[in-house]
Parts: sequence; structure tokens; C-alpha cells
Amino acid sequence: MRCGALPRTLPETLFEKRVSGLPKNFRARPCVWVCEFEERGIEQAKLNIVKDGDPVLRKVCRPVETVTPRIRTLLDDMIETMRAANGCGLAAPQGGVLRRVVVVECEEGKVIELINPRIIAHAGKQEEAEGCLSVPGRWGITDRPRHVTVRALDRYGNEFDVSGSDLLARCFCHELDHLDGVLFTDKAIRMLEPDEVE
Ligand code: NI
Repeated sequence: MRCGALPRTLPETLFEKRVSGLPKNFRARPCVWVCEFEERGIEQAKLNIVKDGDPVLRKVCRPVETVTPRIRTLLDDMIETMRAANGCGLAAPQGGVLRRVVVVECEEGKVIELINPRIIAHAGKQEEAEGCLSVPGRWGITDRPRHVTVRALDRYGNEFDVSGSDLLARCFCHELDHLDGVLFTDKAIRMLEPDEVE
């Protein structure tokens, strides 16, 4: 199907949305987005979050060789999914995509997109509670560095470094672990009992 061609089966409301250009980040997405959107079905802009027990979460993800429009679409979908689930981070395998892609939003509005991220420096130590959208309702205390610097590619393929402390450092570590099939439950010093969780 060509870009911009609307399938006849598209529900009226979605048609409205499409032609009036309502999707908020439509302009940021190239026409490839429209094609993929049609292939996947419009409701699939949000990813289904894979839960613990699914083997997908235990795989080592492949690096992104070239940052294509498809990867940018994945980033957009991951941000939407993370926000809808009230999470502060999401890794691509949690959406069933085995690529080294992560989004983080520890501070509202400050989204950090990481492609092929790796930790290049860390310092200090923290033991704090951690949870995961793929492990709903469970929390555990993990031992993580207090400060972390990550090197990654942005959505245009440019390399950059980003540093974070405290929650952001934990979040970087947690999400990067997902790319190697590691869950926080593997690393937890201890899991919290339900009465310890507010
Ligand atoms: Ni997680």
C-alpha cells in the first residue's frame, strides 16, 4: 500500500483522526510511519507489555545497525506505551522487540531515548526499591551504582553521553539489563513483602 492511501476498512473515527492530522507527533514521523501503521493496525501504536515468564524477556537483544524510520517509530511507540503504563522506563524487549533500544522518563517531560546504550562509567552505590512493568505488583531492593554515565545513539544516529544519579541511574541500569535478558528480580538483594509496599 502506498503512503497516504487509506484502507476502506479504516473505522470512520480513525479516518477522521488520520486526515485531520491529529496524531500529536505525526509531523515528526516520516511517511513510512503511515505504511507501518496501516500494516500493524492503528490500535497497535501502543505495544503490549510482555510479562515475566515470557522467554522474550530472557533473550539478548541485537544492536541497531542503522537508525531507520522504523526505529524512530519504535521509539515513539515505546514512549507512548511507557506513559500509558505509568512507567519511568521501557526497554524494547518489553514490547516484544529484540533490539537494543530503551526509553526513560524519570522526570516528566524529560524523555531520554537510547539506542545501543552501554554504561561507560559508574560510581558509588545505592540500595533502593525497584519494580518493573513486566513484573507487575512486585518490588525488590537492588544494589546499583549511585551515578551512571551511558553512551548511546540518538534517534538520528548521533552518539551522545548522558549521566544520571539516584533514580535515573537505577533506571539506566534496570533498562539496560533488559537488553541482556536480565530482570531486576535476578539481582534483588531481597524482594519486598506486599505489606512493605505502599
Ligand atoms: Ni523493567
